[in-house]
Amino acid sequence: MRLFPSLQFNPGVFLNSTLPPVREISNVVMDQPYQIVSAEKITDMGNMWGQFLIHNMAFSKPDPNYPMPIPVPKCDAYFDPRCTGNMTMPYFRTGFTKVSCTKTTSTRQSDGFCYEQINTMSSYIDANPVYGTTKDTADLLRSFDKGKMIVDHGPNGDMPPRGISGVTIDNDARRYPTDQLFSVGERRGNENPGLTSIHVVLLREHNRLADKFGRLNPQWDDEAIFQQTRSCIIEQVQKISYEEYLTTILGEFPQYTGYDENTDVSVSTEFTTAAFRFGHSEVGPNIEMVNRDGSFGKPLSIRDAYFNPTALDNGIENVVRGLIYKQEANVDIYIISELRNFLFGKPGQGGMDLGSRNLMRNRDHGMPSYNQMRRYMGLPAVNTWADISSDIEVQERLRFAYHGDIELVDAYVGGLAEDHMYKAAVGQTFYHLILDQFVRTRKGDRFWYELPEIRKVNEQCESTSFSKLIRRNTNDIGPLPKNVFLLASDSNPLEN
Ligand code: HEM
Repeated sequence: MRLFPSLQFNPGVFLNSTLPPVREISNVVMDQPYQIVSAEKITDMGNMWGQFLIHNMAFSKPDPNYPMPIPVPKCDAYFDPRCTGNMTMPYFRTGFTKVSCTKTTSTRQSDGFCYEQINTMSSYIDANPVYGTTKDTADLLRSFDKGKMIVDHGPNGDMPPRGISGVTIDNDARRYPTDQLFSVGERRGNENPGLTSIHVVLLREHNRLADKFGRLNPQWDDEAIFQQTRSCIIEQVQKISYEEYLTTILGEFPQYTGYDENTDVSVSTEFTTAAFRFGHSEVGPNIEMVNRDGSFGKPLSIRDAYFNPTALDNGIENVVRGLIYKQEANVDIYIISELRNFLFGKPGQGGMDLGSRNLMRNRDHGMPSYNQMRRYMGLPAVNTWADISSDIEVQERLRFAYHGDIELVDAYVGGLAEDHMYKAAVGQTFYHLILDQFVRTRKGDRFWYELPEIRKVNEQCESTSFSKLIRRNTNDIGPLPKNVFLLASDSNPLEN
């Protein structure tokens, strides 16, 4: 779904050639000078939950029939060190489909239709990273015994099974054979071990609850136990997302006002392509490993963490503690080199730049410019670089990258550059796009956990916080703050 009119979208030749090349912007604007930690004291678990949540809601599946390589500037330090001037990074346009034209679709094409990018995920928060988006995937992951999911019983606790035929699992880094990766409900679930550890916790919670429901309701068959348990896991994912995660990212979140059948829950392209990619700037260079006594062990570089299942060989506990004890990177224009130069491999050996890809996706999806987006949103347009950010370094980088023309600034870059809203981790433009999405996601969901009829269905579910859910499904995890998305403090005390 598109909230605002797009730039012209013409399959094949759409790129606004007046815009500076994406890798140039990435180099000038996003190059991380040094580590800057989250101003709101958000932990790495904050960005991992964000990634898990977005994997539930969005996948702009690249179409191999539409390659559109990203040009690399001559003598780029990472991607053209020999100054050949003819290097590119692979990029495939998002798959698109014909739609009837409306005010907000792309421009009418000669065949009379408009074209829009396809989001292949569910718009509802339905815990599909655990169960898949189709019955076929769910069936492959179910044991069909007492409502439980298939797990491998290991010395350090139950883990997802590996190599289940028919379950699509991405393996972009190709460092380990795909059949060694975990078969979970979402193809990107092995992208890093922090993300995978969330899958593990929810999978264990499913089987723990299924055991409990089976004991309490001996007359229930496998299907009844499975469906009830799945409903509780969906409730937990919705509740954690709204009561703990979104309140941390946005400062606060409006109260639920009930279901509205006229609310369109579709995920907006402005949200997935620009606003919610704010998370790429929160990622730090390492996954920390924290021992039971609170001491920090040898960290795992994000470069070595991509699609690396071995990081969980000794259990998930050290990784989970690391995510909760470490302050994440601040949301700003900067993206770590691990994501900007070493995405899934070394430059020249599969490595890519996530910053460039985000910008390319913005342009591929016909995002309006930053200033145009603000106008469409009813926000005041910016006139000077200082209107975007109070940080002089940020102002200078933007001015230089966009050759002094503020109207050229891409929506993704301008949104990241803004000063944060009061108590929020993002600036005004992203704040409103994220708020719009999650208000609609909740309002248009007739299975939302706060609806009285769903509360009744779920009355046997356990009310929970993410901290308690983690504790129940890990081994001797030790003290955790009440809200694991924020560092422990006087107002967020550690609990045992
Ligand atoms: C190590 C951490 C992460 C890695 C390696 C990663 C990697 C990626 C990659 C490769 C893409 C596809 C880029 C493209 O071609 O368009 C992507 C998309 C995306 N990521 Fe991340 N990501 C990470 C963390 C996060 C976090 C923390 C968030 C948000 C809190 C996030 C939000 C998104 C969103 C919204 C998309 C677009 C989804 C779609 O429409 O397909 N990511 N990410």
